[in-house]
Amino acid sequence: MEKFISRVLFSKRKINRIVKKLANKITADYKDKNPVLVGMLKGCNPFISDLVKKLDFPLEISYMIASSYKGTTSTGSVDIKLETDISLEGRNVIIIEDIIDTGTTLSNIKKILSKSRPLSVELCTLLDKPSKRITTVDVKYIGAYINDYFVIGYGLDYNQKYRNLPYIGIISPEYI
Ligand code: IMP
Ligand code: MG
Repeated sequence: MEKFISRVLFSKRKINRIVKKLANKITADYKDKNPVLVGMLKGCNPFISDLVKKLDFPLEISYMIASSYKGTTSTGSVDIKLETDISLEGRNVIIIEDIIDTGTTLSNIKKILSKSRPLSVELCTLLDKPSKRITTVDVKYIGAYINDYFVIGYGLDYNQKYRNLPYIGIISPEYI
């Protein structure tokens, strides 16, 4: 195990099982709906790419960049740096996020995307930290719940680092 990890929470194999479960649920709900998956960059990258490979039906993929974090604390506001290139009007949209913490990012993104008059907007997150929630947000697809740890790997970063780890682990306190 790398020295900057104090504990591995989700191995590669465990992540694969979680993603497969989510893919099965999304397939059951969206098979005939030609949805637009909107990935929240950059954290969603490994997750969305594994997820879409398990979705064997017509769909489109777009991305947004929004940031609300500096280090390990939420700034409370959301800064949109890249908008979706696909028109969402009349579409079934699924927002794909790496982790939901305070709920600020996803509740704001949902509000912003709803202005484009999509047919539906649902949220899908790989991880959920429910103890940190300050904004109520209805998340339809949740891969796994975690306690209040700061986790890195599989897209999740600490100051832009560690996104390339193939597993998800808790960052060692001496690296924060
Ligand atoms: P929220 O707006 O507080 O729900 O924060 C969501 C965003 O914060 C996620 O998209 C992540 O980028 C980041 N974030 C929250 N918790 C963690 C963590 O434990 N590790 C890495 N990034 C995190
Ligand atoms: Mg993020």
